[in-house]
Amino acid sequence: TDRYAVIGNPIDHSKSPLIHGLFAQATGQDMAYSKLLGETTPGGFARAVDAFRAEGGRGINVTVPFKTDAFAYATELSPDAQLAGAVNALKFEEGRVLGQNFDGIGLVRDVQANLGLSIKGRRVLILGAGGATRGALLPLARAGANAIVIANRTADKARALAQDFAPNAHGVAVQGCGLDALEDQVFDLVFNATSASLGAESLVISPSVFAPGALAYDLVYGKGLTPFLRLARDAGCSQVVDGVGMLVEQAAEAFAWWRGVRPDTRDAVAKLTVPLV
Ligand code: ATR
Repeated sequence: TDRYAVIGNPIDHSKSPLIHGLFAQATGQDMAYSKLLGETTPGGFARAVDAFRAEGGRGINVTVPFKTDAFAYATELSPDAQLAGAVNALKFEEGRVLGQNFDGIGLVRDVQANLGLSIKGRRVLILGAGGATRGALLPLARAGANAIVIANRTADKARALAQDFAPNAHGVAVQGCGLDALEDQVFDLVFNATSASLGAESLVISPSVFAPGALAYDLVYGKGLTPFLRLARDAGCSQVVDGVGMLVEQAAEAFAWWRGVRPDTRDAVAKLTVPLV
């Protein structure tokens, strides 16, 4: 039995063991998947992962607040991880530690494969300029977005991130601005990658950003109808979704990377979807 785990702090509510358990069962993989509570003291992450590897652990998923620790721990990084500055999955191969970041790919797969929407040629707005946005930019650009606007409460951070990312944007125009500078712009796909939803804080943007038929997508999972999604719904947005599909799809990417078998994700998405009320 090959061992895997997810590490975070807190970790109790993680759905990863459930998701990977479903994948393992459906694909007939002989593996165990557990939860690890990491210590947030200096060196706490590395100690926990070292111990897990010493016990024969083959790979690990990484969640808040350890994605930058995992980035530092890896000896080899994928382009997505490098650009995100964060790692959400590690694979251990002898002395090597391979680091990946599947969050952005998971988001893109959810939009394209599960929701059946095209990103190619679409105008994309992403709210926030932190780690979640950083992780989503390269996959969104690769998927052929027409333009990407990063809007953030602190406008300078959005501008800096846009400028930083521009050389890797696959020719996609990327701009940064403040949340208050969106009045005259309209988007087909609007993603909330701020941490505002976690505390159920309100998020102030113009309701006119949503094009007819636009998608409003909150990257968080399990928070119900967040202030962002409520705003979108009140603005007449017909497609309003949370990050459950992204969560399952990033897990599927990690599973395929570890095991060499791609699991079907429909069952896991159906089991984890909760109505947004
Ligand atoms: P993460 O790694 O989850 O992205 P982060 O790096 O701390 O976390 O970034 C959080 C993002 O959410 C930031 O873009 C932050 O905006 P600021 O840069 O202005 O701080 C944004 N954010 C958090 N709470 C917010 C709120 N109530 N309204 C708008 N933006 C918010």
